[in-house]
Amino acid sequence: MRTTVGIIGAGPAGLLLARLLHNAGIDSVVLEARDRAYVEHRQRAGILEQGTVDVLRAAGAGERMDREGLRHDGIELRYDRKRHRVDFPALTGGRSVMVYAQTEVCKDLIALQLKEGGPLLFEAEALAVEGADSDRPTVRFRHEGREDVLECDYVVGCDGFWGVARKAVPEELVRVFERTYPFGWLGILADVPPSHDELVYARHDRGFALLSMRSPSVSRLYLQVPEGADAESWSDDEIWDELERRFETEDGWALERGPITQKSVTPMRSYVHEPMRHGRLFLAGDAAHIVPPTGAKGLNLAVGDVVTFARALTHQRDTGSAELLDAYSETCLRRVWQAERFSYDMTTLLHRSPDATPFEDRLQIARLERIATSAAAETDLAEGYTGFPFQ
Ligand code: APR
Ligand code: PHB
Repeated sequence: MRTTVGIIGAGPAGLLLARLLHNAGIDSVVLEARDRAYVEHRQRAGILEQGTVDVLRAAGAGERMDREGLRHDGIELRYDRKRHRVDFPALTGGRSVMVYAQTEVCKDLIALQLKEGGPLLFEAEALAVEGADSDRPTVRFRHEGREDVLECDYVVGCDGFWGVARKAVPEELVRVFERTYPFGWLGILADVPPSHDELVYARHDRGFALLSMRSPSVSRLYLQVPEGADAESWSDDEIWDELERRFETEDGWALERGPITQKSVTPMRSYVHEPMRHGRLFLAGDAAHIVPPTGAKGLNLAVGDVVTFARALTHQRDTGSAELLDAYSETCLRRVWQAERFSYDMTTLLHRSPDATPFEDRLQIARLERIATSAAAETDLAEGYTGFPFQ
């Protein structure tokens, strides 16, 4: 097989990249290790920044998002039983976010790719990227029980944190920056209307809690739990009781309960792999960086990377200049590190470490009070949450 761009991974990064290249008249092949059902039902994030919404619309992939997505103009912070709403448009000159699950974004992009795009091979596991520093890189992969080779002009590793593309970058050229957190998130889906019309981020001495949603009738909620916690060790009642404690407010706000249809624990880590390019191999999305989910940046960073790559490759085809391709890693990492900083700040602002001291507890409250009383502090949060510009 031969193509201009070999894409490893059919998560949001790989699928959107294939769509952007298709619209630019550049052919690609997508290799995805799992089957379609797995990719379409893997519960992940649910917040699209303004930039991501604009990119999906421009790519012709925003129709159902605009019909079923929920535009949100703010979030609520809770601490010491108090409530503070952050007004995005007022603080950012009109930016908001869209609540529309990553599973739905993937379904929309898969449908488009199968209908109009190039080959999207499911259950096609990339085994290795070879010749990344040549002008004919290849992807060795296994599909339908036999090994095959995809010959490319470029390879983009969109294969997530556990993928293989990164391994093709010579170790001596790699710098990894990472931090793991001593806690994770126990996430649930519940068939109950969300108890608030916007997302609620709660800081509590017992730990962080987040109220989010998937639709007017489906709630998505998270509890901070110790790292390595087992979701099955929590009964439904224990989960609701703990959420209720952490969301409690002085004005008697009530959390509605309902049947929990899914529960799982997500670990928390910050991770950046530099560089994001080696020769004709480019890395995008979780293959290159991971953020703790607190700031809802993961999906949006993946979008920023593939927009940058598609723009750079189109520029080279149209002008012969490789300048944007040569700047890919630096361009993406500038945005990645701002998202890492924002996600780290949100995570340390709202989560209570198991070894937190009384001084650190007070510091968190002081940081939250600062946001609640300073337009400057509140604007930094609103700008980070609604997203950094795609270069
Ligand atoms: N060969 C082919 N496909 C692979 C391989 C491989 N060797 N290894 C991994 N994959 C696939 C995975 O099955 C997955 O579908 O690559 C895809 C990577 O998708 P994501 O992990 O979703 O990463 P990305 O597209 O960068 O999107 C980032 O997804 O995980 C969330 O929180 C993350 O919201 C963020 C978003
Ligand atoms: C979600 O709805 O899954 C979600 C929302 C906001 C976050 C993280 C996850 O910060």
